[in-house]
Amino acid sequence: MQSKLSDIHAIEIIDNRGMPTIRATVTTDTGRKGTADVPCGSSTGAYEAQEVRDGGSRYQGKGVRKAIQNIYEKILPSLQGIDITRQREIDQIMCAIDGTPDKSAIGANAILGVSLAAAKTAAACCDLPLYRYLNTGGYVLPVPQACLLNGGLHAGNDLDIQEYCVMPVGADSFSQGVEMLCDIFQTLREILLHKIGKSAVNSSEDGGFAPQLNRSAEAMEYLTRAVEKAGYVDKVLYALDFAAGSFYDPKNKTYRFEGEIYDTEGMIEMIGRLLEEFPAIVSIEDPLFEDDWDGWRTLTDTFTAQMVVGDDLFATNIRRLKRAFRLGVANATLCKVNQIGTLTEAIDAARYAQRNGYPVVMSVRSGETEDNVLSDISVALDAGVFKTGGIRGSDRGTNYNRFIEIEAELGSLSRYAGLDYKRKI
Ligand code: PGA
Ligand code: ZN
Repeated sequence: MQSKLSDIHAIEIIDNRGMPTIRATVTTDTGRKGTADVPCGSSTGAYEAQEVRDGGSRYQGKGVRKAIQNIYEKILPSLQGIDITRQREIDQIMCAIDGTPDKSAIGANAILGVSLAAAKTAAACCDLPLYRYLNTGGYVLPVPQACLLNGGLHAGNDLDIQEYCVMPVGADSFSQGVEMLCDIFQTLREILLHKIGKSAVNSSEDGGFAPQLNRSAEAMEYLTRAVEKAGYVDKVLYALDFAAGSFYDPKNKTYRFEGEIYDTEGMIEMIGRLLEEFPAIVSIEDPLFEDDWDGWRTLTDTFTAQMVVGDDLFATNIRRLKRAFRLGVANATLCKVNQIGTLTEAIDAARYAQRNGYPVVMSVRSGETEDNVLSDISVALDAGVFKTGGIRGSDRGTNYNRFIEIEAELGSLSRYAGLDYKRKI
């Protein structure tokens, strides 16, 4: 029986950082419901779809009442009565009534909340878990890329690289990977406490540690020591997110990194030295600013052994991905649903990347809630890596736990990506 969208309900909730965001619930005429929360980044790229925020004094201007009003006044009347399984059409209608290339009229936050909630409602109507509704054949549990040390905009320290992550590729299953991550996390905590003191184990925005360090090599030394002490040297690889836009100086076209000023070439050399010192770093994300296309091309040609991942570079936007393929820029992409603003477009971008040989790293934002919709989307895409943030907090735990649940549900059908983390399709 066809189920039609009959109502949308939206409320203003808060995320893990006390920032308001939207929780949208979509209902059908058959009485089924699905609810989704909208994530939000703090190191956002220039090419992301735009949220609508209220301005004024409430929540320092970050309120989402206007976006919610747009859901009631603009989105609901356009979607009432539509077959709930017609996700692509639902998303297209919302993009059309918004009418701007970056969704700034109605708000990417309003649109994404409804888009995700509609997908969850449709899955409920089909009595299927979301990952199976989106792709009956999805079976891959990704390698969790867990950020255990933070710098950049995610931490109150002097580290310029935003994320220092571990990937338990040698685990036999996702659940065993989580066990390893927790061991490493606790071991790192002990080392930081012992060597630096209590303040070093304070949490970053991402749920990792934020010790007062200022050199990336030193941060990597702490991380590798924790992995060694926990007994996982042969089972763990490393990934960095430079989030280079946060230390790029657009006026002078230079990078201000660890007390030095580098041009693009100097930056690439510096990254080369770091990778030589720590050869188990297999993934570097946004090592350069998102408009430095020539630099990206040279860098991609230079570091062929690593995943060179575009985050702010692509903004989950198929147009930017197409340009990258043409130019030979980057060799993997991040996928963040709120960068583009609808589920359909995020899936299209990820599928396009996979088909063209770029592995997909599915990713949370620093601003998350207890919603774990991204885990289901990751399994539906058979993504090889999932960037989870750190370990602390239920905003992080919820995605790990959802994967553990899916792994148990799939049983012998599931496969942990493990060393095949660069998988395409
Ligand atoms: P954000 O950071 O969610 O704060 O934008 C994550 C990232 O840069 O990958
Ligand atoms: Zn990033």
